[in-house]
Amino acid sequence: MGAPVTIWIINHKGIFQYIEGDVPFGLDTLPGEVVGRSIFKVYADYPEVLDSVRLALSGEKSRALINHGQRIWEYQFHPFQGTQKNLKGVIGISFDSSPERQLWYQEALMDTAAALRKARTHGEMPSLIVEQLQKLLRINQAALVVGSPPGGPYELIFSWGDWDQICENNEPITGLLTDPQVINNLNLNNRFIENYFPQSPGPSPIYGSPLIAHDETLGALWVGRHKPFSAAESQLIQGVAEMSASALQRAKQHELTQRHLERIAALHSIDQAISGSFNLSLTLHIILEQVVSQLDVDAADIFLIDPDTQQPTYAEGLGFRRYQPQMGISQTREGLVWRVLQKRELVSIPNLQKDAPTLVRGGMFSVEGFQSYYGVPLIAKGKIQGVLEVFHRKPLRVDNEWFEFLNTFGTQAAIAIDNAALVENLRRTNLELDQAYQATLEGWVRALYLRDRSTEGHTQRVVERALKLAQAVGIPDKQLVHIRRGALLHDIGKLGVPDKILNKPGPLSAEEWILMRKHPGYAREMLEPIEFLRPALLIPYGHHEKWDGSGYPEGVKGTRIPIEARVFAVIDVCDALNSPRPYREAWPENKVHQYIREQAGTHFDPQVVSTWEKVFQIPD
Ligand code: C2E
Ligand code: SIN
Ligand code: SIN
Ligand code: FE
Repeated sequence: MGAPVTIWIINHKGIFQYIEGDVPFGLDTLPGEVVGRSIFKVYADYPEVLDSVRLALSGEKSRALINHGQRIWEYQFHPFQGTQKNLKGVIGISFDSSPERQLWYQEALMDTAAALRKARTHGEMPSLIVEQLQKLLRINQAALVVGSPPGGPYELIFSWGDWDQICENNEPITGLLTDPQVINNLNLNNRFIENYFPQSPGPSPIYGSPLIAHDETLGALWVGRHKPFSAAESQLIQGVAEMSASALQRAKQHELTQRHLERIAALHSIDQAISGSFNLSLTLHIILEQVVSQLDVDAADIFLIDPDTQQPTYAEGLGFRRYQPQMGISQTREGLVWRVLQKRELVSIPNLQKDAPTLVRGGMFSVEGFQSYYGVPLIAKGKIQGVLEVFHRKPLRVDNEWFEFLNTFGTQAAIAIDNAALVENLRRTNLELDQAYQATLEGWVRALYLRDRSTEGHTQRVVERALKLAQAVGIPDKQLVHIRRGALLHDIGKLGVPDKILNKPGPLSAEEWILMRKHPGYAREMLEPIEFLRPALLIPYGHHEKWDGSGYPEGVKGTRIPIEARVFAVIDVCDALNSPRPYREAWPENKVHQYIREQAGTHFDPQVVSTWEKVFQIPD
């Protein structure tokens, strides 16, 4: 092809001894004129050439590439020895290598592609990329910056060579090389360089290339070398960067797909657990197992709102090094669990250790070595059921997808809890109410009959009438069960009143009245601790209040008396007057009716009395 090749010889001091062929580019001299001159003078403007010459003069074979115009010149230097084994000089060859360079460039990229194909995961790639660049270009420094969300923040994930220390600077990087931009021989006024490579040696050339694949900026690749990069080498870095970008993206896609599949499988297994088991604790355990493995966290727990106390209470946990006594207790209002419940949204504490002393479970967090915290509310059908918390012993690197998945787990857990609560409620109603409740209530009522014979036989009738009047005044059906229980138990407090007073044939003394008036209070003391009877308490506690405020135990007035109690007062007095008492005979019915009417507006709610007249068809 007649490619111009120049051969030259310099002695051990760098003085041209011989030159054959065309003088290469840029030298405004004839071949004969250079002989006898120092190569360091002749090539003073080409430090790359001189670097190679120095290397050759120290006994090593070397080469340099010089870009000139559209062409690439390659210089090769071969040291040779004299008879004494001392360095005699260097033979130099220079030639226009443009077509060959193209080939070399392609081979280098093929090499890189082959190396990247071997990487199985995203994580292996940075070191492979840098290894290639090191092999191809003898770089001295490299750094790789990546970020998943477009536009940052980016993170330095790999650094090497002179820069191997900078990974310790762990801050996220924003706004870095989001547009394609190549910085060569830069004068260190780039913000990224200033912030991240402060110890970068002087004006050492740095080449930065964004990693772009399918219009997505994945990050940036930075390489540096003590010697400048030629245009061909810059092109090669650019090529490696492009290849790396698409390899990184491929790996990322692959990992995302893999993770999606795993997460779908995880959700499916939770679904099965929810529908296949009525054991809440087991279901929560399965959810926590998936949370810990899929979200890649060290520990997780679930607090549930206790239906009796309305307090969040530890239900299930996974990944804790040891059981902490604090876990078992309900959370006080200052705790993180309460913060989640009040905000009804995600609470994140990226640095638990910093906040630990002020936190209720700070001691536990320290013992466990937790650093990051995320808590989400468990909401199903608009009702907050509890809190899901995740803990990690290192800072957590999370993205939108992670948060979405945390929320999905939260929703799943809430559904599981809601389902379990339905089953639990059914069981409570059926079991507790049918058995324990019936037995207990009937036992109490029987105990009362035994002492206060006057009420025997009437209670059932009172209950039926109270229900009828309650319905007529518009008390919702679902509250009737409480009316029934309240009516049944209305005078249960009389168990606390001495026999002597209860069965006294004559009127009560002032002291006796004080004790008799305590029976609603006694009822409250007896019934309040029993959750399912609490809504029924309005009647036992309030049935002696009067419309005009002259009743007991509170002396409240008018509509401040619960409607249940206002309804029951009419039925109770009516029934009492209709029945014989140790202190008097039963009243005739018309006298009872007249009395009730008279007392409308003083003892009784007048509207309740008028409804009572209609419902029981009281004659005028
Ligand atoms: P109880 O016998 O079941 O009476 C319930 C309510 O019916 C009474 O509440 C009162 O509002 C009305 N009531 C009952 N008997 C009469 C009556 O003869 N005249 C009038 N106007 N209203 C009557 P109260 O007054 O708060 O009494 C609560 C409970 O105290 C009664 O329950 C009963 O066990 C007892 N008690 C009330 N007065 C006497 C009495 O003179 N002697 C005795 N031994 N016990 C009495
Ligand atoms: C209450 O429980 O405080 C209400 C009872 C009443 O109004 O007598
Ligand atoms: C009642 O309130 O007890 C019903 C009225 C009646 O005895 O007829
Ligand atoms: Fe009473």
